[in-house]
Amino acid sequence: MLKKISLKDIANQVGVSTALVSYVLNNQKEGRISKEVAQRIRDTAKRLNYRTNQVAKSLKTNKTLTIGLIVADISNPFFSSLARIIEDEADKNNYTVIFGSSDENPDKSGKLIETLVNRQVDGLIIAPPQNSESQVNYLIEQDIPFVLIDRYFPAIETNYVAIDNYKAAYTATQHFIDIGRKRIGMITYESAIFNLNERARGYLSAIKENKIPFRTTWLKELRPNNTKLCIEKAINELLDGPQPVDALLFSSNIIAGWGLKYLNSIGIKVPDQLAVISFDESEALDLFYAPLTYIKQPLQEMGRAAIKILLETIGKSSKPVQLNMEAGLVIRESTAV
Ligand code: RIB
Repeated sequence: MLKKISLKDIANQVGVSTALVSYVLNNQKEGRISKEVAQRIRDTAKRLNYRTNQVAKSLKTNKTLTIGLIVADISNPFFSSLARIIEDEADKNNYTVIFGSSDENPDKSGKLIETLVNRQVDGLIIAPPQNSESQVNYLIEQDIPFVLIDRYFPAIETNYVAIDNYKAAYTATQHFIDIGRKRIGMITYESAIFNLNERARGYLSAIKENKIPFRTTWLKELRPNNTKLCIEKAINELLDGPQPVDALLFSSNIIAGWGLKYLNSIGIKVPDQLAVISFDESEALDLFYAPLTYIKQPLQEMGRAAIKILLETIGKSSKPVQLNMEAGLVIRESTAV
């Protein structure tokens, strides 16, 4: 096994003190050290293949320069896109991100939080599953820096970055009404997750405030297991009978993906027979023969804001920062008049 190169080995090779080597390799006191000596120290460290002892460094600085990120499912394009943005933003600030997927399961989320906290991450960014309030309260009690992203718990005062889901769903439903659709359905998950509930609330408010007809059976709230079959059953119910819906709002990219496949398989013509809008940008929605009108979440801004808030929280106690960002409605062929 190769001998671990120490600061002292470098100091002996260059003929300077160990303290000076430490200042140079930690970019400290830069204005007070000659550039020529500093370069010799860096060149020698590189030649000897010196590796900073992160554990020793973190003991001294009380920082590991790592951030824990817990999303629902890293294979979901929404979360993988957001995770990449967060990773790049963290890297700009010399932080490394350690990912984990909760699968919308509070027990798994709790285990991930415990693992990441034990690994001494400097802070966490979490898309919390439903029923994980106790974990959020634990982080607050332990004074561990964190930011909730995509969804949050209104009853708990925390940092969070999300979109205004109520307004986004209201705007999408209003668009259906503006293009003359009168029987508007929505397919979402049966969930306590705040952002999904806000989407259903926005849809219902738009229908009520525009005084258009509504049937409670037009709002389908699916159990998250077996999404495919549940969506097919929901669509059949929405299209059956003398008053089939003529517009359909999908509350997520996953629901839209299964829904469009099924609409295609049963020969429903979009938008002629059924206008369609979905939350979330997704290549699948672009490839559909009538590219979908969708609600575009500002992922770049959300990811950057989450990192900024977290880094401002690390090492300082400050009043929680809470951002509900505006999502845009991108209008395309699936709602053509
Ligand atoms: O599947 C991704 C969807 O669920 C997005 O709308 C995001 O908000 C998440 O909650």
